[in-house]
Amino acid sequence: PTIHVISPTYSRPVQKAELTRLANTLLHVPNLHWILVEDSKRRSTLVSSLLQETRLNYTHLNVETPRNYKVRVDSRDPRIPRGTIQRNLAIRWLRETFSENSSQPGIVYFADDDNTYSLELFEEMRSTKKVSVWPVAFVGGLRYESPKVNTLGKVYGWKTVFDPHRPFAIDMAGFAVNLHLILSKPRAYFKLHGVKGGYQESSLLKELVTLSDLEPKAANCTKVLVWHTRTEKPVLVNEGKKGFTDSNVEI
Ligand code: UGA
Ligand code: MN
Repeated sequence: PTIHVISPTYSRPVQKAELTRLANTLLHVPNLHWILVEDSKRRSTLVSSLLQETRLNYTHLNVETPRNYKVRVDSRDPRIPRGTIQRNLAIRWLRETFSENSSQPGIVYFADDDNTYSLELFEEMRSTKKVSVWPVAFVGGLRYESPKVNTLGKVYGWKTVFDPHRPFAIDMAGFAVNLHLILSKPRAYFKLHGVKGGYQESSLLKELVTLSDLEPKAANCTKVLVWHTRTEKPVLVNEGKKGFTDSNVEI
């Protein structure tokens, strides 16, 4: 099957560095399709040329998160989680591109642009029948969070401290979905409104599967193959107000 990797991305000083690193990882993965979705009014030349220069099979989309959602305006209107509108656009693109009875086998994986992905991870997810799951390092205040797997190889709960009673207490980087399942549930999207922190993943997954459907990967969830790394914001104080360096030089 083709692995469709969906990555939201937005403009900031480290964007090109993040995308360069992610592209370099994805170049090692056979049969991969990268759906890169910019959080912007239009597709930027920075991202367009980066994509053209990689030898990756890709689709370049864009949709801007409405400004008023980016900051918490008041407590009744919490911000939309980062990258959500972009992931939903990619899901819609998949549904418009592949029909439900198409024989095109595929796997869908949501890969944020700043995490660290092992190559083994992509081979693990390739056999996903419905939804596969695995541990993710550096989330929820732990070295790693993980699905709980019993001796029969079934997922029965979540090894997390932060709200383990969520239907699916798992980070975005911790699961993959079979394309056919995505196509067979045309109403399943990430919820945009009224989603408490940490419930975004559950809002999609509960439309697709139940706990007993989950397929544990990474040696029954005993191995860490993905890390929720976050890049430090670079210190640019010496640029001054107008900018010390040549603004025509792309970074
Ligand atoms: C955590 C989770 O791992 C994310 O999957 C989740 O979307 C996010 O929290 C959330 O709920 O807000 P975190 O590292 O805090 O991740 O988030 P970022 O990596 O900053 O953003 C997630 C993705 O959205 C990234 O690919 C990023 O490039 C993109 N993003 C971020 C946008 O497209 N627009 C933004 O304004 C910010
Ligand atoms: Mn992140």
